[in-house]
Amino acid sequence: MLLVDTRFVTSAPNVEALPETGIPEIAVIGRSNVGKSSLLNRWIGRKRLARTSRTPGRTQLLNLFSVTGAGIQYGVVDLPGYGFADAPKNARAGWMEMIEEYLSQRQELILVLHLFDIRRGVEDEDAEIFRWAGEAREGAVLAVATKLDKLPKAKQKPAVAAIAKRLELPVARVLGTSSSTGQGVEALVTEIRSAVRGWAP
Ligand code: GTP
Ligand code: MG
Repeated sequence: MLLVDTRFVTSAPNVEALPETGIPEIAVIGRSNVGKSSLLNRWIGRKRLARTSRTPGRTQLLNLFSVTGAGIQYGVVDLPGYGFADAPKNARAGWMEMIEEYLSQRQELILVLHLFDIRRGVEDEDAEIFRWAGEAREGAVLAVATKLDKLPKAKQKPAVAAIAKRLELPVARVLGTSSSTGQGVEALVTEIRSAVRGWAP
């Protein structure tokens, strides 16, 4: 069995308040309720490290975790979700600013996982943020479809293909996952480990 040590490091209201860790960092972004915290818990193998909720807008701070094991160490940041329709307008603007500042300024950041709900696909706002993040991080953004278990098997592939098309990506560049069944999680971990191993300070 692989021994992996994961811990919560800190919550911060903005990028300036995050500590300089000097270790490579992975960020999880996406619409509110898309399954960011659930996927993160699943891939690091801790059921309740990042808080999940049926109520959108649960994660409101930059939550930093560290993962050590299998010969590597990296940080993970669970970001607040965007597009939460019920949030007041100024709160929404504040979240967007927090996310944009984090993505454009964080030194440690090596890979962004941008999550898309398989049933919702890609909306205009998602496509815009995906493009923006790709420019800010020079393409180090991986598109991940979530909640595949919510669709019957036969509909999963076409739905992933639709996401790829909307993002102008080859279909193989969208990773289909489910935090409930664990589908696709191993492939995701492989991508993360290879990004961390390829990182040179
Ligand atoms: P915010 O922090 O509010 O932006 O949400 P989030 O993106 O972190 O989503 P979260 O992980 O809290 O999940 C939202 C809801 O979707 C919860 O009720 C989860 O149980 C559910 N959910 C997440 N992933 C999956 C999945 O793969 N399959 C199914 N069926 N439900 C999921
Ligand atoms: Mg969350």
